[in-house]
Amino acid sequence: SISAVTGHPRWDSRGRPTVEVVVRTGDGSVGRALAPAGASTGSGEAVDLRDGGPAHGGYGVDRAVDRVNGPIAAALKGLDAADQAGADAALEAADGTAGFAHLGGNATVATSLAVAQAAAAASGLPLWRALNPAARRLPLPEVQIFGGGAHAHGRLDVQDLMVVPYGAGSFAEAYAWCNDVYRAAGELLDRRGARAGVADEGGWWPAFDSNEAALSALTEAIEAAGRAPGDEIGISLDIAATQLADGAGGYLLRREERRFDRDGWCELLLGWLDRYPVVSIEDPFAEDDPVGMAALTTAVAGRVQVIGDDFLVTDAARVHSAADTGACTAVLVKPNQAGTLTRARAALDAAHARGLTAIVSARSGETEDVAVAHLAVGWGSGGVKVGSVTRGERTAKWNELLRIEEELGVDARFAGRSGLGLDGG
Ligand code: PGA
Ligand code: ZN
Repeated sequence: SISAVTGHPRWDSRGRPTVEVVVRTGDGSVGRALAPAGASTGSGEAVDLRDGGPAHGGYGVDRAVDRVNGPIAAALKGLDAADQAGADAALEAADGTAGFAHLGGNATVATSLAVAQAAAAASGLPLWRALNPAARRLPLPEVQIFGGGAHAHGRLDVQDLMVVPYGAGSFAEAYAWCNDVYRAAGELLDRRGARAGVADEGGWWPAFDSNEAALSALTEAIEAAGRAPGDEIGISLDIAATQLADGAGGYLLRREERRFDRDGWCELLLGWLDRYPVVSIEDPFAEDDPVGMAALTTAVAGRVQVIGDDFLVTDAARVHSAADTGACTAVLVKPNQAGTLTRARAALDAAHARGLTAIVSARSGETEDVAVAHLAVGWGSGGVKVGSVTRGERTAKWNELLRIEEELGVDARFAGRSGLGLDGG
């Protein structure tokens, strides 16, 4: 049983404090986990508890760490680490609010993950295998090539321009292809004098004048890497449209100084989907615009995967209502949006029960913690999204997936195109 739970202040990939939790059990097993943090967050997410005030830009986590060492430790002591649902229920009871406003979702998600790691350690298995001994599927990666939006000071309006290497025969081959595209994209930016650095998730920060210029450059980079766009590698966009909403039902492309009403915005996006080999689009409309989400999903049915992120905030009830209204075909699963592994797992189970694809995802603010790689395999998600190919907090997760594929050996199955949930996959 759990003998100690301790909280510790650590640091994330944006130079902001974050919460680490260590869970110890009576038999000497140790589980450790770090909380990630989003920048373009949905309003329905579990609360990211910060200290405010002048220190650390207001991002301090002393209060969240105190919650771990105080009420959280008291609530979990003596519980069985192998009973994830029981530990997570104890966190809910100790909090008493809907979105972990009292304990902090950053404190609870790190605790919940550390409990899972302690249980895995006690069983002598890596987390993915402890979650599902029969797991063998490697998810289809969405790999960021260009970063924009809230992760690059709005240099591009679209937040993530990613590639999905569904034509590859293994996760290892798929990931190698993405690195080829990344290098080709960098060379292309150099030739145009448009390389401005890297964004929060490691993708190139391009100095383009329009979003469509980035789409066309990405298509060229796939070709320059020797891959067939739309055949071997497709494009995946995270519009993160909540960030682009003008508050009056419309949407803004700030770089291009253009405003669109809902119908015009849908036309614009459909034009991009027609002209470029896009196979997946995330949050094409704002979190409070289910009508727009459903309109686009209907228009691209069977052709393009439509993912809800801010729109669903890893919440099982929202997943069910999105399935009822046909608002999207896939669900981004971010454990810290939910606050516990049990709640995140419920959102993933709801997706699978309703025939939607699940994509396990990291956040734009991350650490070297690799648990999301294990969750993606252990939970059998179709996709996985952890950023670009640069920055150690990203490569930590990709390399962990490579290790898992290697460990599975001949039993490994790469999701490939079935990971997109198109063609009935
Ligand atoms: P976030 O970005 O972690 O800043 O929310 C990732 C995403 O929107 O998918
Ligand atoms: Zn998103």
